[in-house]
Amino acid sequence: NNLDTLYRQVIMDHYKNPRNKGALADESLTIDMNNPTCGDRIQIHLQVNNGIVEDAKFEGEGCSISLSSASMMTQAIKGKPVEEALKMSKIFSNMMLGEETDQEDIDLGDIEALQGVSKFPARIKCATLAWKAMEKGVDENSR
Ligand code: FES
Ligand code: FES
Repeated sequence: NNLDTLYRQVIMDHYKNPRNKGALADESLTIDMNNPTCGDRIQIHLQVNNGIVEDAKFEGEGCSISLSSASMMTQAIKGKPVEEALKMSKIFSNMMLGEETDQEDIDLGDIEALQGVSKFPARIKCATLAWKAMEKGVDENSR
């Protein structure tokens, strides 16, 4: 249907024109994570100061779902408080479980385009890879 087509276009746009692709300065956090089911590997770079994600970038190789998800994730969390980034990650993981997402006051923006992935269990790890890496980085940073 039309919504699926729109969502597919959003995913392909992030894949072909990735937002925030590249590295950050040396003092930023880098989280390297692979998808064990396929061996694809991505790096998420985060600059977190005073509880704010000041910058977020990604690098790596993967399928269209994993790379578009990384692009959307970095776009979504940039400039946001860590708490909000984690909340988005929770909402995203609920979405991947096919659960109703209670979006509350959070604008998911382009991320919504990935909700169809929940119908393809083999691809869920692709979609959540960047989010898991971000969560790990934030967790390490707060220790
Ligand atoms: Fe082919 Fe991930 S793109 S399995
Ligand atoms: Fe490797 Fe999707 S097939 S991350």
